[in-house]
Amino acid sequence: MANVRISPSILSADFARLGAEIEALDQAGADLIHVDVMDGHFVPNITIGPPIVKALRPHTKKPFDVHLMISPVDPFLDAFAEAGADGITVHPEAGPHIHRTLQHIRDLKKKPGIVLNPGTPIDHIDPVLDLVDLVLIMTVNPGFGGQSFITSQLKKIEAAAERIAKTGRVIALEVDGGINETTVKQVISAGADTIVAGTAVFRGGPARYASNIAALRG
Ligand code: DX5
Ligand code: ZN
Repeated sequence: MANVRISPSILSADFARLGAEIEALDQAGADLIHVDVMDGHFVPNITIGPPIVKALRPHTKKPFDVHLMISPVDPFLDAFAEAGADGITVHPEAGPHIHRTLQHIRDLKKKPGIVLNPGTPIDHIDPVLDLVDLVLIMTVNPGFGGQSFITSQLKKIEAAAERIAKTGRVIALEVDGGINETTVKQVISAGADTIVAGTAVFRGGPARYASNIAALRG
């Protein structure tokens, strides 16, 4: 599908040479760069913070799709915006007030996104759908790359697509976790248009990034 956007997760990159990795993803045809931010508290892993996002910013013009898995999230929104995030996606559980958080991201002139964990009901998007540019459905529990796709989330993707269609607004429907050449077909059939993939993009090293991304486009 030509209109599917691929957002490689740099969680699977070689962290010792992240700048070069971002450039390789850019040249390989990535549409966005997915940045997984983890705090060792909201999720059981620690990754990167605003200084690294800022250091990476000159290495590509592609939008940074920043997925914040940190709690509390509000004290760090300005820092990620200043560092060069384009989209900032937050979990309702990272609170305390998801509506205020999304309003603040919009005030920062960034694209607000809401992300639902596998155990979080779809209803959480209803009160804030007018505020977001992206809905992200997790198809693994957040924290690590390389996990298995949770098939039960396909129904939630379908439900999100229905709710988005009813708004009449352009809202991206993104999926994150366990995406490979098989599961990507399932999530696109369910209505996803933006695909996060770590393992499936980075497999085989930089020489394979372009063919890996092309394979996910189908
Ligand atoms: C998980 C992250 C994902 C992860 C995806 O917490 O949000 O972005 O890196 O990795 P794969 O594609 O390997 O499941
Ligand atoms: Zn992510």
